[in-house]
Amino acid sequence: MPDAVRHELRFILNSEVVHLKDVAPTLTLLDFLRLQRRLTGTKEGCAEGDCGACTVLIGRLGTKGLVYETVNACIRFVGSLDACHVVTVEHLADLNGNLHPIQQAMVDFHGSQCGFCTPGIVMSLYGLWLETPTADAARIEKTLQGNLCRCTGYEAILNAAEAMSGTDNSSDKLVVTHEAISQKLSELSDGSRVEIDSPSGKTIVPGSVDDLAEVLEAYPEATVVAGSTDVGLWVTKHMHDIAPAVFIGNLVELQTISEDGTGITLGAGVTYTDAFEAVSRSIPTMGDLWDRIGGEQVRNMGTVGGNIANGSPIGDTPPPLIALGAKLTLQKGSETRTIALEDYFIDYGKQDRAPGEFVRSVFIPIPPEGDRFAVYKISKRRDEDISAVCAAFRLRLADDGKVEDASFAFGGMAATPKRATAVEKALIGGPWGEAEVERAMAAFEEDFTPLTDWRASAQYRMLATKNLLKRFYLETKGQNVQVTRHQNALAEV
Ligand code: FES
Ligand code: FES
Repeated sequence: MPDAVRHELRFILNSEVVHLKDVAPTLTLLDFLRLQRRLTGTKEGCAEGDCGACTVLIGRLGTKGLVYETVNACIRFVGSLDACHVVTVEHLADLNGNLHPIQQAMVDFHGSQCGFCTPGIVMSLYGLWLETPTADAARIEKTLQGNLCRCTGYEAILNAAEAMSGTDNSSDKLVVTHEAISQKLSELSDGSRVEIDSPSGKTIVPGSVDDLAEVLEAYPEATVVAGSTDVGLWVTKHMHDIAPAVFIGNLVELQTISEDGTGITLGAGVTYTDAFEAVSRSIPTMGDLWDRIGGEQVRNMGTVGGNIANGSPIGDTPPPLIALGAKLTLQKGSETRTIALEDYFIDYGKQDRAPGEFVRSVFIPIPPEGDRFAVYKISKRRDEDISAVCAAFRLRLADDGKVEDASFAFGGMAATPKRATAVEKALIGGPWGEAEVERAMAAFEEDFTPLTDWRASAQYRMLATKNLLKRFYLETKGQNVQVTRHQNALAEV
């Protein structure tokens, strides 16, 4: 057992410290705010992390101190909030009821019509203004990737955001209280394990990674919840019971990023947002893919470790990581083992993870100079969509121009993320030429028998995959292959 076990969650909600002794593992932050606290400014649109109507800020103490980030309250569980600061739209106006400058800008620039999306948009812009007070238009648009407005249109909203850019935020409430809130959160974060029994099951927040290992030995059937961008939907869309639920988003030991010149090691709890800088600096193509994963709220919550651990055949990161030769480290008790990432995915819903074992970290090799690497995501929308096909190609040519090594991995083409070994075999040892590539494209039929679903037909998937290899070939020959929305029904990286 750990040194101390606490039987209540503690966090700050706007200006109040909240103590909760009875929390269902499936209680979402959105339901807690609206139904238990009557903070109804936070809206429910989709309940799956797509529309941004439920956007709130969460302040958490991480490796960079206290950071506030936007999240989707509809898929964030209350169990994940221990020692966090939850900030809702009700916190923005001052005590005299005067609107916050961002709210006022939305009024001044007519950025709201029916108003349903408006609190979420205000919170997204508020999060941006705190983080980057001089944001340019591109940064503002990236921030609003995760906020849908059906009636105003975005121009008025962008005008409001641009009017805020460059204004002084030093007297803002969250800036002024930064030190005091940091201090309070570190007092709340006392290293205890939190364990709460409710009529709907057990919620556990381990106090450390050693404690997590102990918890999972005791509850090997537990659902491990990191960012909840996937598990959240198991609850809101499929009504799954996730008890006992073990929330690991507080474990700073799992949030480390290290680089040694050959690659990047991401702890299992590193969010997409936190990983972006290191990954996009060393492997720029991956940075382009990163911007296509969810919206900003999802990237602030979701983790690469979770994307891998759940074993989805359409996760965005496994195909490029497999093509790069990533290694996965798993831990059970005090024992760790490291395997090739591609060996982790055994079959649909089946991964090489023993009961009580958890993902500890992933090592992403940086392709050596001279290797070609590309990743393409095909989805119906550019932003906030799931892949129909995700394709990653890594290629090494020998001095004589022949293919020395090839590693091509795909999502959406099989029951797991999977390499196209027949295609690789058809190319390795031969010239890297158009005729050879076109011949090798046929070998995709040996590698994959894709499914038809509402994202794409089997025929589309197969044709797109073959054509992506051709595109990769043309790009290695210096051709800039641009596919516009008009030429192609689906968006791509
Ligand atoms: Fe749509 Fe939460 S309600 S993202
Ligand atoms: Fe109506 Fe945005 S103002 S959805």
